[in-house]
Amino acid sequence: MNLYGQWRPLRFCRPIVILLLLCVSFSSLWWTGESITYQDDVNALQAMLNSWGPNSSRILRWYGNDPCGSQWPGIGCDDSSPQRVTSIELPGYGLSGNIPPDISLLTELRTLELSNNNLTGFIPTQIGELIHLSELILQYNYFNGGIPPEIGNIKNLSTLSLNGNSLKGSIPNEIGLLENLFWLDLAQNDLSGGLPYSGDGRSSKNVGLDNLTKASHFHLNNNSFSGPIPESLCHESMSLIHLILDSNQLTGNIPSGLGLCGNLLIMKLNHNQLRGTIPQEISLLTNLTELQLNDNQLVGPLPDLSNLTKLVLLDVSNNQLNMEFPSWMNSLGSLADLDMSSTSISGTISAYFFQLQYLTAVKLANNEINGTLDLSKDTSQLMLVSMENNKIDSFTTAKYPPSVIRLFGNPVCETSKSTLSGELCQTNSSSSVSTYGLGNCSIACPSGYQVYPAQCSCAIPLEGFLIYRAPSFTQITNQSVLLLLASALAEKLSVQLTQVVIKSAEFNPQNQLIANIAIFPSGTEIRWSPDQISYMSHILGGDKVVPPGFGPVSFKQTSFLDYSVGSDNDGKKLPTVAIIGICIGSAAFASIIIGVTCFVCLRKHNKNNKAVDLSNIVGSWKAVGRDSGSAPKLKGARYFTFAELKKATNNFSGSNEIGSGGYGKVYRGILIDGQQVAIKRAQKDSMQGAAEFKNEIELLSRVHHKNVVGLVGFCFDQGEQMLIYEYMAGGNLRDCLTGRTGIKLDWRRRIMIALGSARGITYLHELVSPPIIHRDIKSTNILLDEKKIAKVADFGLSKIAPEPDSRKQHVSTQVKGTLGYLDPEYYTTQQLTEKSDVYSFGVVLLELLTARTPIEHGNYVVKDVKEAVNKGGISALRSMLDPRIKEESGIELNSFIRIALSCVEDTASARPSMGEVVKQLEEMVGHDYPESGSSNVDVPPKWAPDRHLYGSDSEYMHTSRDSSEPSFPISNTALSLGSR
Ligand SMILES: *[C@@H]1O[C@H](CO)[C@@H](O)[C@H](O)[C@H]1NC(C)=O
Ligand SMILES: *[C@@H]1O[C@H](CO)[C@@H](O)[C@H](O)[C@H]1NC(C)=O
Ligand SMILES: *[C@@H]1O[C@H](CO)[C@@H](O)[C@H](O)[C@H]1NC(C)=O
Repeated sequence: MNLYGQWRPLRFCRPIVILLLLCVSFSSLWWTGESITYQDDVNALQAMLNSWGPNSSRILRWYGNDPCGSQWPGIGCDDSSPQRVTSIELPGYGLSGNIPPDISLLTELRTLELSNNNLTGFIPTQIGELIHLSELILQYNYFNGGIPPEIGNIKNLSTLSLNGNSLKGSIPNEIGLLENLFWLDLAQNDLSGGLPYSGDGRSSKNVGLDNLTKASHFHLNNNSFSGPIPESLCHESMSLIHLILDSNQLTGNIPSGLGLCGNLLIMKLNHNQLRGTIPQEISLLTNLTELQLNDNQLVGPLPDLSNLTKLVLLDVSNNQLNMEFPSWMNSLGSLADLDMSSTSISGTISAYFFQLQYLTAVKLANNEINGTLDLSKDTSQLMLVSMENNKIDSFTTAKYPPSVIRLFGNPVCETSKSTLSGELCQTNSSSSVSTYGLGNCSIACPSGYQVYPAQCSCAIPLEGFLIYRAPSFTQITNQSVLLLLASALAEKLSVQLTQVVIKSAEFNPQNQLIANIAIFPSGTEIRWSPDQISYMSHILGGDKVVPPGFGPVSFKQTSFLDYSVGSDNDGKKLPTVAIIGICIGSAAFASIIIGVTCFVCLRKHNKNNKAVDLSNIVGSWKAVGRDSGSAPKLKGARYFTFAELKKATNNFSGSNEIGSGGYGKVYRGILIDGQQVAIKRAQKDSMQGAAEFKNEIELLSRVHHKNVVGLVGFCFDQGEQMLIYEYMAGGNLRDCLTGRTGIKLDWRRRIMIALGSARGITYLHELVSPPIIHRDIKSTNILLDEKKIAKVADFGLSKIAPEPDSRKQHVSTQVKGTLGYLDPEYYTTQQLTEKSDVYSFGVVLLELLTARTPIEHGNYVVKDVKEAVNKGGISALRSMLDPRIKEESGIELNSFIRIALSCVEDTASARPSMGEVVKQLEEMVGHDYPESGSSNVDVPPKWAPDRHLYGSDSEYMHTSRDSSEPSFPISNTALSLGSR
């Protein structure tokens, strides 16, 4: 097959290349000798490498012994001297072995993310010594043994994801010491015993789950927990929004105390052995969107839940309720999916019930319901009415396709068979497995490869299972649901929709939606690179791919990097002599290179940066840039010649100049195809080296978000460095606030601008790999498009500025940014973190409120605002507000001010993360504002009913880890995606 021709030559080259790299890095060690990484950290990483098996250093590409200096993939460092390792993020590399106790040496570690590997053994107790750790993510490995109680020492821990392992024993009470814990996921293990609570007498510390007052998520499903749900689990200070305890062996009654977790959105207690009646206090949980109590031994009657007006999914099936179908059901105004099958309910169902406007599925099979099934009223969104095995003796309908209604086993099928369509009374056998994008290509691929349907070729995809633990719907009624999922995947992973395949999607008995997905590499690539796999694995595992109504998700990867497929090892081992020869040769070669490089450097120094001969370096990637198909790293970014841009800007005429700064000038241009662009042209003395420029473009071209100004292309031609961006017709925010652009910003628009730009920055912080700290957030860097949707511009600009200390390529210690927006803590400590952007963003929020520049007549707006609030509270700010928004309403304004003030806290730790800011703004906004501008699913789902409940699409683009709430009826939110 033609296919083979493409990679066969590579097969021979790869070992040589690897050897060369090894040898070069080895010889460069003799050369420089010193490491800038703290020695204990180096030792710890070496210990990990040793315990991860012989292949791991090759897979990880960790060469040399200076993790920070040579920027080992997956390793993040701070800026101290010597440098300390602060993050290890290696999801989905297929690593095996265990975590050695030496991990305790990494005392500055903040993030340990090793999800979706093949790691085994115990979680070492020494993990408790990593007291700065805030994220511990070990989900989907093969860890066994218990959860070490020492974990309670990690006071800063906010995310603990140990789900999908083989952990045993009970949850140690010490987990209650994690006062900062936000996310607790222990699902899918073999954990047992009772749920720990303070006062259970199991620990001298008197703590338990009820002490985790900051936790929003308890995901403890699919274990073997037993005993009762602690009565004290909920109290007024708890902030739980997800309580997921399903599929355990919990016994006893449902405690009435659960009514105190007023923030709960999702409560799943299904598939346990709970007994007794359902307490009336559940009706206090007025925020609930999903309540699943099915498959227990509960008895009726069901309490009146008519307060739960946000409830979308109610499942109490497989219990013994022994009651009449309650009339209060008619007032559950948001209900979309009701399952009361096999609950011994009787009586008739009023026609009004079926008129509930969002109702899509009613499942009442195996009960004693009698009388007439009256579907004659307008209920056009119903997709399933499952009434098998009841006592219904007559039936009226308006217009349904028979597949919607199932009446098998009712008297009505006996008496009036001739008048009813036969299908109504048949046992249903429709398949519940759905697929997306499988196509019908019928080629055979070699072992290890899979058919890539969109191209009808063979490739190795990233594959795994997305497990949605609490979707608000219980069957896939339409392909559009899968399209929604596929589009979300494409967007979050920054791939084309055609690269996404959903091999199967089905519900398991616990109402979890399991989707087997495969993401294929683009173009003619046959496999993903380790970094790409890792990046996607992190996104998928981070609860980020959550279309509305899908609920929290976890990801179990099933494909790992497998170099044995389609690459070197098929019998062509190089003889040892040749290896030695190559090594000596390449060491010599490396020495020559280093010598030449130094010579060039010196010359460059002396001759004051007369451009070194870049043509060799550039020439090789210029071609790559042109041929967009084979350059996955430059996704979407085009290469432009100088001539093209000269033409587009009318020879860079002054009339096309739209901005300037220390780096050079910005021009408006019109490309041959009519597209308007903004062209940023670096002036001679702010140019970077070719390699840095290339890095920058690769970085920028990976950034795709509705609220971030997109890179259209670049030019590296005739000694010029230019970046071409999408043109933003609305100008910058500062000019809009001063009224210079003629655009007026009302209060509502200002909120949308705040939210849009916050999402853009969150994306840079949380979803781009490696994360980008903007460093220069200010109102002139927030641009508006023609629809006044805000986009963040100029991230990475600071890199274009000359780096005086070019040895350090990552985070510079030199304080950069713009006066008035500078984080005071960064200014004094020179420690750059994401929180510096949060501070600057807070200043922008104050600008939105006051329309003042950050420093006006020598007065700092931050200082003035803080003083005013200290003296007279938030209301004292009224006098400082921009007169144009003074009339606007109170509550929202106060929350907005509060958010702004929290962002400009003096200490970084007191500020929220950008993700939290987005969440707070979204909470403030509610669902009233449609024009937030951040969804790019452009295929309208055809099945969505023609109504608007939640006009906003804001739910779709949550970028924080907490992206799963709120859950909405899928049919309602999906339609807002299509309305654009
Ligand atoms: C990971 O472990 C599983 C189960 O032990 C095994 O089936 C799989 O082949 C392993 N994968 C790799 C890449 O080692
Ligand atoms: C844990 O909660 C219990 C009950 O509210 C309380 O008595 C105890 O002091 C708490 N422990 C800690 C360490 O906060
Ligand atoms: C519902 O959630 C909102 C916002 O989080 C909260 O203010 C309210 O108190 C909650 N409702 C109840 C009954 O606690």
